[in-house]
Amino acid sequence: MAFLPDASLFILLNILIGINIARSEPFIGINYGNLGDNLPSPEDTVKLLQSTSIQKIRLYSPDIPMIKALANSGIDIVVGTQNSEIPALASDPNAAKTWINTNVLPFYPASNIFLIMVGNEISLDENFRKQLLPAMQNMQNALDAGSLGGKIKVSTVHSMSVLSHSDPPSSGEFQTWLVDVMKGFLGFNNATGSPFVINPYPYYAYNSDPRPARSALNSLGYNNVEIVVTETGWPSKGDDKEPWATIDKAKD
Ligand SMILES: *[C@@H]1O[C@H](CO)[C@@H](O)[C@H](O)[C@H]1NC(C)=O
Repeated sequence: MAFLPDASLFILLNILIGINIARSEPFIGINYGNLGDNLPSPEDTVKLLQSTSIQKIRLYSPDIPMIKALANSGIDIVVGTQNSEIPALASDPNAAKTWINTNVLPFYPASNIFLIMVGNEISLDENFRKQLLPAMQNMQNALDAGSLGGKIKVSTVHSMSVLSHSDPPSSGEFQTWLVDVMKGFLGFNNATGSPFVINPYPYYAYNSDPRPARSALNSLGYNNVEIVVTETGWPSKGDDKEPWATIDKAKD
């Protein structure tokens, strides 16, 4: 695993791994959480990233100063919506247009946003589940309207709990009650060429192994949908209640 020279600058330094089985283009990126109070400036952060082999950064929400600082940096950007924005994005196509007009259009393509994550680990939530796909579709329509469809993809981040089991990896499949829901997401991924994104949570059993998800996708016929693994790796620094969040542990 690759870590930054001064990884402690990041409260949550996670590795974002893209695994494209078909085209075999692995990449390393980081998840950038900006909840810390001693973070370097966006400009310094970008310089630091440029000194590494990190090619992609995921922002959990549209962090405009960071998006601006990443202009012409050679680092590609994944931007998330807040989960709380999903109801509006689902019910109002104009909310999605406003989101794109505010957070993407003024900065693209100098800031190379290539993927928008609508929601984080919300696909199992009863209240959000039905809103997620309409929100993603409205976002896609807003991108299409801005002639960005195909250039910027839309997806959502699933938690590993969408799988009923994952061991051995070849037996991985979605929870039975979720199959129809997952087919909806995969149909969207397949139709728009966007990746299926999953957080494997390696602190526990899964490491960064996407094979169970691959089997689950294949069993529904979506062999062509790419898988992106987010939030693997280890937080390099936590608060007092997180003594395990150290660089040494991260190397384990
Ligand atoms: C995925 O999309 C392709 C191309 O649009 C289509 O031919 C195929 O049937 C789709 N796969 C599934 C499982 O729906």
